[in-house]
Amino acid sequence: MVDRNGWGGDRPVLTGSRRSPPPSFVEQANVTDSGIYDEFDANWPDCWERAADLLSWNRPYETVLEDENAPFYRWFTGGQLNAAENCVDRHLEAGRKTHTAIRWEGKHGDRKTYTYRDLYVAINEFAAALRELGVEEDDVVTIYLPMIPELPIAMLACARIGAPHSVVFAGLSADALATRMDAADSEFLVTCDGYYRRGDAFNQKSKADNARLKLAQDVRTVVVDRLGEDLPHVLGDEEFDYHGLREEFAGETVEPVPRDAEDMLFLMYTSGTTGEPKGVVHTTGGYLSHVAWTSHAVLDVKPEDTYWCAADIGWITGHSYIVYGPLALGTTTVMYEGTPDYPDRDRLWEIVDRNAVDIFYTAPTAIRAFMKWGEDYPDRHDLSSLRLLGSVGEPISPRPWNWYYEHVGNGECPVVDTWWQTETGAVTISTLPGIDEMKPGAAGPGLPGIDVRVVDESGEPVEPGESGYLTIARPWPGMVRTLYDGDDRFRAEYWDQFSAPDRGEWWYGSGDAARIDEDGYITVLGRVDDVINVSGRRLSTMEIESAITGVEGVAEAAVVGRSSGTNGTDIQAYVSTEGGYDDQGAVHEAIVDNIEAAIGPIARPTDVLFTPELPKTRSGKIMRRLLEDVANDEELGDTSALRNPEIVGEIQAEIREE
Ligand code: WTA
Repeated sequence: MVDRNGWGGDRPVLTGSRRSPPPSFVEQANVTDSGIYDEFDANWPDCWERAADLLSWNRPYETVLEDENAPFYRWFTGGQLNAAENCVDRHLEAGRKTHTAIRWEGKHGDRKTYTYRDLYVAINEFAAALRELGVEEDDVVTIYLPMIPELPIAMLACARIGAPHSVVFAGLSADALATRMDAADSEFLVTCDGYYRRGDAFNQKSKADNARLKLAQDVRTVVVDRLGEDLPHVLGDEEFDYHGLREEFAGETVEPVPRDAEDMLFLMYTSGTTGEPKGVVHTTGGYLSHVAWTSHAVLDVKPEDTYWCAADIGWITGHSYIVYGPLALGTTTVMYEGTPDYPDRDRLWEIVDRNAVDIFYTAPTAIRAFMKWGEDYPDRHDLSSLRLLGSVGEPISPRPWNWYYEHVGNGECPVVDTWWQTETGAVTISTLPGIDEMKPGAAGPGLPGIDVRVVDESGEPVEPGESGYLTIARPWPGMVRTLYDGDDRFRAEYWDQFSAPDRGEWWYGSGDAARIDEDGYITVLGRVDDVINVSGRRLSTMEIESAITGVEGVAEAAVVGRSSGTNGTDIQAYVSTEGGYDDQGAVHEAIVDNIEAAIGPIARPTDVLFTPELPKTRSGKIMRRLLEDVANDEELGDTSALRNPEIVGEIQAEIREE
């Protein structure tokens, strides 16, 4: 971890009044036995069989957990299963062919419904096509698609033939796509011509083309025609039309390939503490068990529900809780292509109303926007179908929590504030909605079997009420197994700081700071590493900085997160230019262009502040921690260790002027 270890621990984080689970909810909840925490502790690790039992196994596992080679844990070893078969085939066999699997709500009000049978057909045909294109078991297939049904279809087709997928968020740039395909040696790509966002047609294929130009390997590419006449495209060499392939393989079926529990199901790149994204490896048995279990126990999903997680499948939340979790349980999962405010700010409530959605799961950044827009929008619709609300991705403070509870849930739905990460695979901290009291502002205790500890620098647990590092002291089935980039980086990123291998203690370091209360409830305070969480999206300060310093005329740059009150976190960039570059306007523009090209528009800084120098230690390190305090207008600690302390006052004055 970096030398910056503060987390604004003095900032007050208020927890609001406690709330009990509504009795009408408890009556029907999937999990209601409060003995479950003790039961998991007493039977650990065999308790996790409860999760594995939610799946169908082609061959039963022999061992629940192998921990001889920690931190390289292995779960449900000896077992074999196929994720696509679990998410689709077994529901057909259970007589639920005509049950809706995916309800797709398109950008312009167009809709599509896929029954489990329709999904089965689509997955099989596309799996047959992928095979024909040369995809073999264990080949990494990159998927670069927006929120259209072909995205989960492609994921599940890969899973069916045992080819790990690596989904790259559609809004990321050509460079970002190329970096990920290069790192994974991926020779197959599924993308589309373009997509609509806020009424505009975006050209996705040109980004994919540019990425392919940068790669050493040949890439066979499947293109989904999403925009038709709105954006005509021509297929080049090694490019294949998705719909053409589906027709060619119409009616074909492909036997699901039995995968070892520990075989890779997918790779997901996420921002880490260096400029290079990390390839998080998730496996078939442990991951699928954990997402199915948490969908059941935390989100209370039932097969007859209409369930909606309003995230993007391009990130882990969508993988776990739009695709794998809900489909493993055979429910109806809603997939929404558009934005919450188009055509109007009641769009989401209109979708809830029309589909009689039972469970709604979204991010605090959206909830804060709803609150700002006001209760008139949800009030226009009948939201009485809702039974449970969820939040994920950032801390949610009591005010938006209560607003969500009152104005969306009408005081009748539990709110689960679920803490987890790309690396944890599935929810690890949350209340159990049919059992636990809710405390707005605190996510909840570790789930049964998840041993959460908040510790100080030396790994000692902190007192209730104090802040420290959020760690997990026992393995869990959905956990990252390694990084595609290598085992050494895996150890360095997550295990080295808090583990004591000589005592056989392997504690996972999450990169978050938190406070624990006397009931074991965790309030997450934010990241302590060089990752910033902007609207629930993880960005690496180093990746952004290297895009900025790539601009001609820029000497140095530092990027920090700036808290913007109810809006969450913004990106503040500090830049110093080389002598002779005084056209700050032009440099600013070039910086924004470079960031968009290197990462994507999501990483655009809210503010770029030009300064003659950046504050540095005597050894020449930029003091980001101090710059973060300046950006947040917080009291500064001792600056005497700086080589150039005077610059801090100058920067501070400029920030305050803005
Ligand atoms: C943050 C998203 C507070 C946290 C599932 C974590 C949260 C990072 C919460 C992971 C929550 C996620 N309360 N903070 N309920 N959920 N986070 O990998 O900083 O995109 O480390 O996974 O989001 O982001 P990631």
